[in-house]
Amino acid sequence: VKIYSDGAEIDKMKQVYNEGIVSGFTTNPSLMKQAGITDYVGFAREAVKEIPDMSLSFEVFADDFETMEKEAEKIASFGKNVAIKIPIMNSLGESSIPLIKKLSARGYTLNVTALMTIEQVREAVEALAPGTKNIISVFAGRVADTGVDPTELVIESVAVCHEKPGTELLWASTREVLNIFQADKLGADIITVPPSIIKKLEGVGKDLLDLSQETVKIFNQD
Ligand code: E4P
Repeated sequence: VKIYSDGAEIDKMKQVYNEGIVSGFTTNPSLMKQAGITDYVGFAREAVKEIPDMSLSFEVFADDFETMEKEAEKIASFGKNVAIKIPIMNSLGESSIPLIKKLSARGYTLNVTALMTIEQVREAVEALAPGTKNIISVFAGRVADTGVDPTELVIESVAVCHEKPGTELLWASTREVLNIFQADKLGADIITVPPSIIKKLEGVGKDLLDLSQETVKIFNQD
């Protein structure tokens, strides 16, 4: 599985880029708000300048499809390595499929986002134009947050995505390091991981008895 970085803090993005751990980046409006970004275009242009050779996803933030289309055109102009994130619906629950079809027919690389059901995955993949390169973001972590195991959803989504060449299944909403191993095992193409969890990769393969002792040492110090 390819690891992408999920966040909007430019310093952390540059850091993981230079460390060579990740092969792409995702952002969303909530992550940008958390990072205190007020100048979307300035942020996106800086990110593309610093990271010119890896996939970078930027999301539209309008709620009406006409404005979303304009934003999508603008986002596409940032660079060749940019994927336009289109949520599967707007906040009123109206389907984005007609817009996805329209943009995909123009040859844009899309990242269709906020999917939580296999039906959504099917209709999104169907809407993508042949010969285009796209990402389908399944929010496995948000599904798991409802008490539902996302395993079946991810397995089926991978199969649906791979029916259309050029379509990659991305595991979004990563909650823990274990998710990277799950995504890999289930055949996901990409998992996007917040920097806080990327940092925890240092713990992979650690001896569990040593970890037990370290834990007790901390209890003792505290
Ligand atoms: C990435 O593309 C998604 O926007 C992100 O992983 C969502 O994460 P969250 O569900 O933890 O907000």
